[in-house]
Amino acid sequence: MSATHHIPVIAIDGPTASGKGTVAHRVALHLGFHYLDSGALYRLTALSALRSGTELGDEHALAKLAAGLQCSFDGDKILLSHENVTDAIRAEEVGNTASRIAALPAVRQALYGLQLRFRMPPGLVADGRDMGTVIFPHAQLKVFLTASVEARAQRRYKQLIDKGFSANMHDLLKDLMERDARDANRAIAPLKPAEGAYLLDTSDMTADRAVEQVLRWYAVAKKHA
Ligand code: C5P
Repeated sequence: MSATHHIPVIAIDGPTASGKGTVAHRVALHLGFHYLDSGALYRLTALSALRSGTELGDEHALAKLAAGLQCSFDGDKILLSHENVTDAIRAEEVGNTASRIAALPAVRQALYGLQLRFRMPPGLVADGRDMGTVIFPHAQLKVFLTASVEARAQRRYKQLIDKGFSANMHDLLKDLMERDARDANRAIAPLKPAEGAYLLDTSDMTADRAVEQVLRWYAVAKKHA
């Protein structure tokens, strides 16, 4: 058993734009826990690959990039080799590239240890696709957030416009469905609810309500721990 197994983890998984980032971040703030946005690690690897012109079929070179990521999380800021790339990694091209390289086993393996290191006292809220199934299978609480594809496309549209990117609803819907299919059908760590995960459909739910629900489940899980 690892030296960190006693540190509580809340694993929140779900498809693109299901609201898991917002919910996980707020739950972490509420509990005073650390927060891991695991998708950002795949996005940072994708951004590095795009910038360096690395061939997206070259698994070995991509895994090397992932293993050598010089990144840090400073509050809400995400830095890559000291450059603030918080907004740059949210671009659709980066997200799509992230989803392609996330299907490569060597890339996932290269990011595995880095993700475990986020488990620090007093606790961690981790969001992604495989937090409850692969990275933290013994998490105290596992949640699978979903929302209709239309609700998610609307949210992504708003996020992109707010960040100053241009966006087209038709293309977003298409990208989202392609990415969902790729994430759910890949051979390694496919997107699916972990065993014992609570399902939460946020299509018609405010972020506040979703946060309250997760906190309520966590309070129960803590009692039974
Ligand atoms: O969550 P986000 O959209 O930032 O993630 C970008 C991509 O990274 C996802 O489409 C998915 O393919 C990949 N990812 C993953 N496993 C995670 C988190 C993200 O495969 N734990």
